[in-house]
Amino acid sequence: RRKIIIDTDPGQDDAIAILLALASPEELDVMALTVVAGNVPLELTQKNARKICELAGRRDLPVYAGCDRPLERRLVTAEHVHGRTGLDGPELPEPTMPLAPAHAVDYLIDTLRAEPEGSVTLCPVGPLTNIATALQRAPDIAPRIAEIVMMGGAYFAVGNITPTAEFNIYVDPHAAKIVFDAGIPMTVMPLDVTHKALTTADRVEAFRDLGTEVGRACAAWTDFYERFDKEKYASPGAPLHDPCVIAYLLDPSLFSGRLVNVEVETGSELTMGMTVADWWGVTDRPANATFIGDVDADGFFRLLTERIARL
Ligand code: BDR
Ligand code: CA
Repeated sequence: RRKIIIDTDPGQDDAIAILLALASPEELDVMALTVVAGNVPLELTQKNARKICELAGRRDLPVYAGCDRPLERRLVTAEHVHGRTGLDGPELPEPTMPLAPAHAVDYLIDTLRAEPEGSVTLCPVGPLTNIATALQRAPDIAPRIAEIVMMGGAYFAVGNITPTAEFNIYVDPHAAKIVFDAGIPMTVMPLDVTHKALTTADRVEAFRDLGTEVGRACAAWTDFYERFDKEKYASPGAPLHDPCVIAYLLDPSLFSGRLVNVEVETGSELTMGMTVADWWGVTDRPANATFIGDVDADGFFRLLTERIARL
């Protein structure tokens, strides 16, 4: 059973990722959610995280609020995709569970120091500000992290917030650079793979057909969230980016990728936040991340729906 901390900026796809993890207690021990500003400001993402916990009947799960802005740049948000609240779709009650009484960065540092070395996996599915701040403040935690399995970046695929950058990396490229350069084993779900995990009509109906409150919420989130890709790109559905991270932990055989060198652009405004992956090994820069490129999408949605049914 793997101990994980999900670092998140919910977000409909973040919400489904969190629910997938909470629905899989045999494999995953979700220690806490640490929340960051991203899709919407922190005030909303921390509230959304608590709404998701309450929907899952998990008022006991600690939710720590973290950084409210990127290390160096001003915050860029994505209401155009996620709606005004960041979690538009189903009507969910205002959360009543309190935030955990510490800053997410302090929680990350204290937990990684207290737990046995190599026993905690970090799962960032938003901008990397909390993780980078923890690494900056306490470099001794880097070798204590088992692995980082995260959503972010793009290599053959083009960006989704600029022509070359993916949203999570673009929002805080300086944080991403610190994390990619920290020497921690990393597995990354870039847009190349997440755009293969598309919510087609039958997949959304499968959520709704579960007939549960959580199933209906997942369908309503997806209905809202796919508008953007359908209207703007005539895509058959929306990419379920963040759940790929959790699905990978549950069944890595659904995915394939390559261990490569990845550098994050922080110097050029034109390509800010681009993840430059040396896919063909044309440099001698050392490999630092496994970039995932493929997913068995039917297998992924089967796993997802079967787990969501348990909540
Ligand atoms: C990422 O950005 C956010 O909008 C999503 O939640 C996902 O983490 C995709 O680029
Ligand atoms: Ca996210």
